This record gives sequence, C-alpha cells and structure tokens, in this order.
Amino acid sequence: MGKKLFIETYGCQMNVADSEVVVAILQKQNYEITDSMEAADLILVNTCSIRENAEQRVRARLAVFRKYKEKRPEIKIGVIGCMAERLKEQLLREEKSIDLVAGPDAYRTLPGLLDEVESGLKGVNTLLSIEETYADINPVRLDKNHVSAFVSIMRGCDNFCTYCVVPFTRGRERSRNPETIIDETKVLFRQGYREVTLLGQNVNSYSWKANGEDLTFDSLLDRVAEIDPGLRVRFATSHPKDMSDNLLITMSRHPNICRSIHLPVQSGSSKILLRMNRKYDRDGYMDRIRAIRNYLSEATVSTDIIAGFPGETEEDHHQTLSLMKWAQFDFAFMFRYSERPGTVAEKRFPDDVPDEVKTRRLNEIIALQNRLSLQSKKSDIGKVYEVLVEGASKKSDDYFFGRTSQNKVVVFPKGLNRPGDYIHVYIEDCTSATLLGKQVHEPIDFSKSFKYRSAKQIPNE
Ligand code: SAH
Ligand code: SF4
Ligand code: F3S
Repeated sequence: MGKKLFIETYGCQMNVADSEVVVAILQKQNYEITDSMEAADLILVNTCSIRENAEQRVRARLAVFRKYKEKRPEIKIGVIGCMAERLKEQLLREEKSIDLVAGPDAYRTLPGLLDEVESGLKGVNTLLSIEETYADINPVRLDKNHVSAFVSIMRGCDNFCTYCVVPFTRGRERSRNPETIIDETKVLFRQGYREVTLLGQNVNSYSWKANGEDLTFDSLLDRVAEIDPGLRVRFATSHPKDMSDNLLITMSRHPNICRSIHLPVQSGSSKILLRMNRKYDRDGYMDRIRAIRNYLSEATVSTDIIAGFPGETEEDHHQTLSLMKWAQFDFAFMFRYSERPGTVAEKRFPDDVPDEVKTRRLNEIIALQNRLSLQSKKSDIGKVYEVLVEGASKKSDDYFFGRTSQNKVVVFPKGLNRPGDYIHVYIEDCTSATLLGKQVHEPIDFSKSFKYRSAKQIPNE
C-alpha cells in the first residue's frame, strides 16, 4: 500500500510548478496524492516569503496542522519552498510539529530526508545549487482542467532588487536545457494541453550556451511556438530592463504567442526605481511600453506595483499614479511594501512610510487600477475574440470560462464545447474582472489564424 501525500502551495506560479516536480519525485517513492488532509500520511506546505503576510498565512496554516497532528501523531509535516530556505533550522525550533524542512533546490533529496524522518530524526536540506533545474523530471500535473500548464525554463534570480527576498530564497539564476523544455511541451500538447506558460523570475535573461551558440529567450520562444499553431504560449515574468525589441518581433510573427505581457513597473518615480535597483527609470519603462504598442498593437499589458517603498514621497506616489494612467494597464498586482530581513532595503533604507500612508497610497493605486481594468474590459464589448475553453465557471454549472489571447477571462454558456476547445465569443457585457459573452459559430482555420489575433467588430444584430 502506497502512502498518501497532501500538498498545499502558496506563492507564485514557480511554486505551483515546483509542487508538480515534488509530487513526481515522491510518486517514485510510492506516495500517492490526496485531496484530503484526513487521508494523508505526509503533509507538505510549499511556502512563500515574498511579503510578511505571505509568511503569516503559512504560520496560521501550520497551527491548524499542529492541532491535527495532536490527534494523529503519526502524521509527518514538511515545510518546503522559499520560507524553508529563508528560515532553515529556525523553523524547526519555532514550529515543533514540523518534521522536515527542504529548500527549493533540495527536492531530489526528499526521499532521503523522509527516511530520516521515519527513523525519528528531523530532515533538513536548504542547500542552494548553481545548476539544479529539475530538467529531467516529468512534473505530475496537478491542475484541474488539463488545458493550461506551467513549464519552468529557469530558476533563481540575480537581479537583487533591493526589496526582494527571491535572490536569497531561490539562489543564483540558471537556465534549463532547451531540449527538455521543448520535449516537455510536446508531451503536454499530445496529452491535450492547449496552453503553456514558460516560467522564470526574469525570462528575458534566459540563456543556454551549447556548441558555441547562445540560445536567448526570443529564440526559445520561437521554438516553443513552432511546436503547433494550436498551442498557446505565454510567459512570465518579463523584466523591463531586458525586454528586447527582438522578443516583440518574435511574438508578432507567431499568432499563438499570447498578446499579453506582464511587465512589472514597481514605481513610476525614477528616484524610487533607482533605490529599488530596478536598472531602468521612468523613461526607460515608457520606452518599453511604446515598443509593445508599436509591434503588438493588440497586446494587453499588466504590471506589479509596490506602494510605500522607503523614501517614497507624495510626489513619487503621484508619479506612479500618472504612469499608470499613461500606460493604461489592463491589470495589476498591487502591494504594500513589506520589509524583508536580509535585503539591501532592510539594511540601508529605514521603512519610513507610515502604515496608514502606505495603506492610503495602495488604496488610491487600487481604485485607479479598478477604473483602468473596467475601461479595458469595456473596450472589448461588441467584439469577437478567440477563446480557449478552460473549465466550468464559478458563476453557474451552465457556464464555462476561458481566456482571450489578451489574458482576459470570458464567461459564456457551455453549449456543446469541452475544455481545450477554441471557440469564438461575442462580448456582450463585462465586470471589472470578467468579460461576459455568447458563442458565435465560425470555423477556425489555424493556417489563417493570424486574422483572429485582433478583435473584429461585428455589426449589431
Ligand atoms: N520576478 C518578478 C517578480 C517576482 S515577486 C519581477 O521582477 O517582476 C512578485 C512581485 O512581488 C514583485 O513584482 C513585487 O511587486 C512584489 N514584491 C516583491 N518583494 C516585495 C516586498 N518586499 N514588498 C512588497 N511587494 C514585494
Ligand atoms: Fe525579485 Fe527583482 Fe528578481 Fe523579480 S527581478 S525576483 S523583483 S530580485
Ligand atoms: Fe514567493 Fe518564492 Fe515565489 S518568495 S513569490 S514563492 S519565488
């Protein structure tokens, strides 16, 4: 009889992809995945350290697991991922119910660590590697719909933005062998997946040197897009300092590379961007937005913004708001600055924006973005988009949801469709988060699919 593994994942898409690698490693050890904590022999929590509240959420969950372990002492609990890396043995001292701590580069050693745990010891490995990419491991997909999958193309980060803990929790940047990326993606397509998202903290600095050649991100993207025109390709995240015109040109040549770019700006003030060590200024960022509009007029742009970085004045904050309006972001993730131990910002810049000011600025940023997001969605009303059907809508059993190439969620009556189908949807209405529409019937000919890349106006009925 195999053992049962219950795994919970916090943080970014890279953690979601890592959990799939962890399950693959443990399946070889006779572990079987379960959705029920009650059935589990082993609970793993894949954790995030990006902001203090991300860690607090995990601590609250660990308290629940601790209570549960009091009833079932034989159950084993492991903390893996970024919080494991940041806190190392400290976690074992603070959370007595934990049996195992493994950092993001230590997953191959999980079987050995679990043996130690079985023999009554604590298992700990938080060594970071300069070469581990888990390139040869076939992730066990944990997504529900089997339409869209993550493919990790690199690990780590060398950018050292002064606020950010990732270079410490994930270690040095390294790229994955492109052949393994292509093979993994081909297998996904054969299994019926219709969308992949290539993942890295800064995909634009992907680099693979072999046979005297250096394969860069735009060439990799080109190869992935060529696997099949019926496979949508997305990627995250782009760093504005490295997003080249070549990348945009490559995208424009492939209709199946999705017309949506996530380009975190963080702040609209050049002074703050310098203190953040982002290596671009306000003008540099605006130049990249202009390039996107130039090569890919139909693309949407989303971003990340931090409110209340040390030294941020009211004027700096207003520059963020004005840049948001100028760029007309279609979507944004917005955060209050959270000081992280060990970062340059923690050492050099006092966290001097008062809490209530941070909150007020964040609220202003959110209110503005809500208006921009609604505006972006409203501009789609009356158009027809090609939508990849993903699965049942939360709204009702009679509805499916899917996405446009521009990464907008569309809800529509199910009809005879199935997840993985490409259909055309006429957009009738929207909220600030979702487009609402109905299917229109038109055969899809992928050889001409370029014509579907942009929304078409159809006459009122
Ligand atoms: N590699 C990506 C971002 C990864 S973290 C990039 O460089 O764009 C995701 C987002 O979390 C960041 O873009 C940033 O907006 C936010 N973030 C990171 N550290 C933070 C901190 N200390 N406080 C608040 N937000 C933070
Ligand atoms: Fe963090 Fe900057 Fe690296 Fe993104 S690029 S992960 S924000 S250090
Ligand atoms: Fe969090 Fe680690 Fe991702 S800190 S955002 S899970 S890289």
